[in-house]
Amino acid sequence: MTDYGPNLHLVDHPLVQHKLTLMRKKEASTNSFRRLLNELSMLMCYEVTRDMPTQEVEIETPLETMTGKMIDGKKLVLVSILRAGTGILDGMLTVVPGARVGHIGLYRDPKTLQAVEYYFKMPPDMTERDVVVVDPMLATGNSAVAAINRVKALKPKSIKFLCLLTCPEGIATLHKAHPEVAIYTAAIDRQLNDHGYILPGLGDAGDRIFGTQ
Ligand code: URA
Repeated sequence: MTDYGPNLHLVDHPLVQHKLTLMRKKEASTNSFRRLLNELSMLMCYEVTRDMPTQEVEIETPLETMTGKMIDGKKLVLVSILRAGTGILDGMLTVVPGARVGHIGLYRDPKTLQAVEYYFKMPPDMTERDVVVVDPMLATGNSAVAAINRVKALKPKSIKFLCLLTCPEGIATLHKAHPEVAIYTAAIDRQLNDHGYILPGLGDAGDRIFGTQ
C-alpha cells in the first residue's frame, strides 16, 4: 500500500471493517445504513480522540480517595459538512456528549465538482478549541479543503478530518492544501469516477442516510 505518511490514520479494526462492508452493500436499507453509520461513528470517534489531553482530578470512590483522569481544556468542536456529515454527528456526540458543533453547508457544482458554500456557523472561542471536521466521504477533496480553509481562518488549536471512505485523489488534494491536518478514515478505495464518486465506494452517502434516492 502507498505510504501516506503519519497524517493518514487508517482505522482497520475488525469491527470497523465489518460494519463498513455491511454499509457498502447496495441492498442495505436506509434504516440499517443509518444504524451502522451511527455505530461506526462511535468507533471512529474513539480513534480520533485518542490523543486528547487529560488532567488529573481527585475524587472519592465509595472506599477511598484517588486521583483519576478527565478530559482537559475547552470543549472539542465537531464541524459537520452538510448534509452527509450530519450522519456522523449522532454517534460521535454519544461518545463525546459535551462537544460543540459547527456546520458548514457546501454543495458540489455538478459540472466543475467545486464546492460552493451556502451556510457557515461555528461556536465562539474557536482559538481555544480543537476541531474535527466530519464528512463520510473524502472524494475529490474539494469540499474538505473549502471547509478547512474557512475553519482555519478562525485559528483553532488544531484541526483533524474524519471520514469513512476516501481514495488516493482525495488524500492527495487534502494533504497538498493542508499537510498538517491528520485524516482519519476506515478505508482507502481504488479511485474516483468521472462524476467524482468513489469506486467501489458506497454510493451517495447523503442519499443513503436520508433515503432521498
Ligand atoms: N460523495 C458521496 O456521497 N459519495 C461518493 O462516492 C463521493 C462523494
